[in-house]
Amino acid sequence: MKKVVVITGYNSGIGKGLTALYQKDGHTVIGLDKFGEFDNKTTFMVDVADEQLVANTFDIIGNLYGKIDVLINCAGYAVFGATELIPTQDAKNMFDVNYFGILNCIKAAIKYMDKGSRIYNISSACALYAVPFRTHYSASKAAVSMLSYGLRMELKDSGIDVVAICPGDVRTNFSKNRKKTMLTNEKYGQRIEKSAKQIEQRESKRMTIEYATGKMYKIFNKKHTKPMYIVGKSIKFLNFVTRLVPTSTVLHFTNKYL
Ligand SMILES: NC(=O)c1ccc[n+]([C@@H]2O[C@H](COP(=O)([O-])OP(=O)(O)OC[C@H]3O[C@@H](n4cnc5c(N)ncnc54)[C@H](OP(=O)(O)O)[C@@H]3O)[C@@H](O)[C@H]2O)c1
Repeated sequence: MKKVVVITGYNSGIGKGLTALYQKDGHTVIGLDKFGEFDNKTTFMVDVADEQLVANTFDIIGNLYGKIDVLINCAGYAVFGATELIPTQDAKNMFDVNYFGILNCIKAAIKYMDKGSRIYNISSACALYAVPFRTHYSASKAAVSMLSYGLRMELKDSGIDVVAICPGDVRTNFSKNRKKTMLTNEKYGQRIEKSAKQIEQRESKRMTIEYATGKMYKIFNKKHTKPMYIVGKSIKFLNFVTRLVPTSTVLHFTNKYL
């Protein structure tokens, strides 16, 4: 059956990869993004943090296509730096996109969804572990995962399925778009700069978009879903190991190596 699929952040990275896969199989993809070229039929210029604009856009989509079978919430970005020194407004802006942006889209889309429809929220491996200097981002993604699990239970009787996807590192524009605060003080010394460099050095080790979205697409085509999927072999392994040891051990080694 051909589906009507709405993807936020469709113009780059994971959203772009998923758009191509759905289109290849003949599904109708409607893309939402902040910048690009938009025809207001299959592509719409939307800041997901703008609740009213999101609501209006989903009403247009609902009227044009009559239903939404799949909503994939990809739009998101990260802030980086010492939690104490990142301007609180920067953290709030990120939550407005990463958490409330997803909430805005779900609330606007759900009236056009029916039994069998699915909502995929792109969370992160950072929802599974806190990472130093990426604390706000981890918190926003943990919130996305909790939103997904709670909604999954609430929507059970309606037949609308909600799934959190937790990818490890993927080679997209994500690193470039990360909002960095490089301020430091005597508590952190060179650690912030070191951590930023370490992220840069690992860039080539990230999964390719094709690999990560290919894995996601396989998950999306499953008849039955689980509440959460990890994408990336090393994160799957780490998740298995870290569930066997105390949190203090997990924090000790995360802090040592990241
Ligand atoms: N790449 C990774 O390693 C990784 C790992 C785990 C989870 N994720 C998550 O995966 C999702 C997709 O990220 P990506 O890696 O594909 O990064 P990306 O290449 O930067 O793509 C993100 C897309 O979201 C758009 N976007 C950002 N803020 C928006 C807003 N307020 N309204 C509408 N669109 C907005 C961006 O538009 P602009 O470029 O115009 O800002 C961009 O097109 C994010 O939620 C990210 O947190 C990524």
